[in-house]
Amino acid sequence: MEDFFLSIASKIAEYAVHPIIHHAQYLCCFKNFASSLPNAKEQLELTRDRVKDRIREAINKVEKVEPAVEKWLKDTEKVLEEVQMLEEKILSVNTSYFRRKCQYSLAKEIERKTIEMIELDRNSKFEPFSRITELPSMKYYSSDNFFMFNSTEESYNKLLEELKNKSVFMIGLVGLGGSGKTTLAKEVGKKAEEMKIFEKVVFATVSQPINIRSIQDQIADQLDFKLKEESDIGRAQRLSERLRKGSTFLILDDVWEKLNFEALGIPLNEISKACCILLTTRSREVCTFMQCQSIIELNLLSDEEAWTLFRHYANISDDSSEGLKGVARKIVNECKGLPIAIVTVGSTLKEKTIANFELALSRLENSKPLDVPKGFTSPYIWKIYFDLEGDLIELGDLERWRMQGERWMKLLTC
Ligand SMILES: Nc1ncnc2c1ncn2[C@@H]1O[C@H](COP(=O)(O)OP(=O)(O)OP(=O)(O)O)[C@@H](O)[C@H]1O
Ligand SMILES: [Mg+2]
Repeated sequence: MEDFFLSIASKIAEYAVHPIIHHAQYLCCFKNFASSLPNAKEQLELTRDRVKDRIREAINKVEKVEPAVEKWLKDTEKVLEEVQMLEEKILSVNTSYFRRKCQYSLAKEIERKTIEMIELDRNSKFEPFSRITELPSMKYYSSDNFFMFNSTEESYNKLLEELKNKSVFMIGLVGLGGSGKTTLAKEVGKKAEEMKIFEKVVFATVSQPINIRSIQDQIADQLDFKLKEESDIGRAQRLSERLRKGSTFLILDDVWEKLNFEALGIPLNEISKACCILLTTRSREVCTFMQCQSIIELNLLSDEEAWTLFRHYANISDDSSEGLKGVARKIVNECKGLPIAIVTVGSTLKEKTIANFELALSRLENSKPLDVPKGFTSPYIWKIYFDLEGDLIELGDLERWRMQGERWMKLLTC
């Protein structure tokens, strides 16, 4: 097929050099011109199909096809469509009264289209063909169930203010377990990304026990680069070099103890604010250890805010019975404005009967306060006992309560 193209190309070039002979050729060799068209078309169609296969492969690998490839495909489809119309014209010309005249102009058009097809076929070798797409970053996180309550908004606005403050590069967000720190930090990250306050927004979960490699990998993935070094310190140095370039808003979620930034590879540049850190923690002491320049509290929800959140999760509408709403209000009071309690109890009681609501209320009322570890003081962490099938099940603080979610659901609804 390549030879075929070369011979057509050289023929066409020959014609271009000898225009007079060429004009005669249009008239005499119409059949030759017309017969070259299907071969060129067939070759280009094969190439087009190969390119389409590669595009499909790239899409399956979540890669972005280069704009040059997309343009080529568009041009090719257009030319092939025109060639299709041209072929129809060629067929009809044979029966036309003005055959000779038509053949002259058609031969010229065939020549043009053949050259176009050869050129497109020649230019179908793309390097690169596609590129790996960037991770969606903060857009990945859904805001569908997020409520901007007054208490939430206050902390949200303070956080945004600090992000814009050039001299603040270490911020702490403190609140009780389940008060909504992670949820709020994601929302602030999304806003910062939208406002383009930083070039990149990165969200990494720290938790316990600290796993340096996992934290480094989470950060590197979101910065679209790979840490190839074997040693922890090599990886830390590479990450630090990357973070020094451009500006990054780094959210470190769920911090329980002082972090060693040097071991992680997080640079602190007070002058350029290349890296601004927001850490979320249950402990104010952690913020002090980490020398946070600004510590922002996340308060619990007011009664009305708690009621709104509970109604959403328990699916209570204005049409729900007054009796059920009355019990629900009391349940919400027992949740003490703590989102995790409201969400857990609310979703557990979704579509349940008033008897289930009453059972849940009595269990919440009978729960007892728990001695809380130093640094995590909260009057709202309960020790809750449930009696199920004769077994005494002890659920500790809300964190464990959350982990026992399914069991909790069964308990409330049995
Ligand atoms: N503003 C809000 N709107 C809707 N739901 C919320 C809001 N804040 C918190 N929640 C819900 O409350 C629950 C607990 O929130 P989150 O995990 O953010 O708490 P946390 O303070 O990070 O807890 P922990 O200290 O255990 O990490 C989640 O299910 C979350 O969806
Ligand atoms: Mg959290």
